[in-house]
Amino acid sequence: MDIATLATTRHTAKDFDPGRKIPGPVIGQLRILLRYSPSSINSQPWHFGMAGTAAAKARIAKAATGPYAYNAPKIQNASHVVVICVRAGMDDAHLDAILAQEQKDGRFPLPEDMEKQRKSRLAYVALHRDVRRDLPHWMEKQAYLALGTLLLGAAALGLDACPMEGFDPDVLSNEFSFGSKGLRPVVLVALGTRGAGDWNAKLPKSRLLAEALFTEL
Ligand SMILES: Cc1cc2nc3c(=O)[nH]c(=O)nc-3n(C[C@H](O)[C@H](O)[C@H](O)COP(=O)(O)O)c2cc1C
Repeated sequence: MDIATLATTRHTAKDFDPGRKIPGPVIGQLRILLRYSPSSINSQPWHFGMAGTAAAKARIAKAATGPYAYNAPKIQNASHVVVICVRAGMDDAHLDAILAQEQKDGRFPLPEDMEKQRKSRLAYVALHRDVRRDLPHWMEKQAYLALGTLLLGAAALGLDACPMEGFDPDVLSNEFSFGSKGLRPVVLVALGTRGAGDWNAKLPKSRLLAEALFTEL
């Protein structure tokens, strides 16, 4: 399927068939999509909780409470749910781990390349932490790139998906002790196969017209 057809035919599934499980190798491809998502200065300020068991999904569904209760059945009935978390901060240990991995992966052909990369990355971190003072928001933006990559990729793999911001992050953090692990959940993605009650599959898609969105510069 060409990319435009994928973009215009994928949709947010509002109901999942609990009998349809995503096979292991396909989960492997979803993990690759998340892991290889781009991020500013390759900062990868994320962590992904992967839930495929009824018990794990039930724990996540606890956060679909109060005004978010409408999301609970999607979490319970989907084959898998991904909890996209953002790191609490951009600490030295994380930055060192990225740099070490880049070296291991052969990204520094010249001896001075590694130090150049370290300094350039630190400059961006300092910009967002000390000047713009938007470090958590900046890191969250990177996490949403992983979300976008996952959503389009899931469609390409023939899966249905439902991204969800409708949950209580404090309840979810308490349930999985995310706070003490230096993580903050920002968005969930239920994945699987749509169920008969997926009313959104029957509706036409709606987007603002291209004329309102694009300007030739
Ligand atoms: C970040 C984000 C959060 C969303 N949160 C929810 C949610 O909590 N529950 C839900 O049913 N849909 C949720 N949606 C789905 C949107 O309503 C949907 O993407 C939008 O209406 C466009 O429709 P489409 O995805 O079918 O093209 C969310 C989508 C995004 C991208």
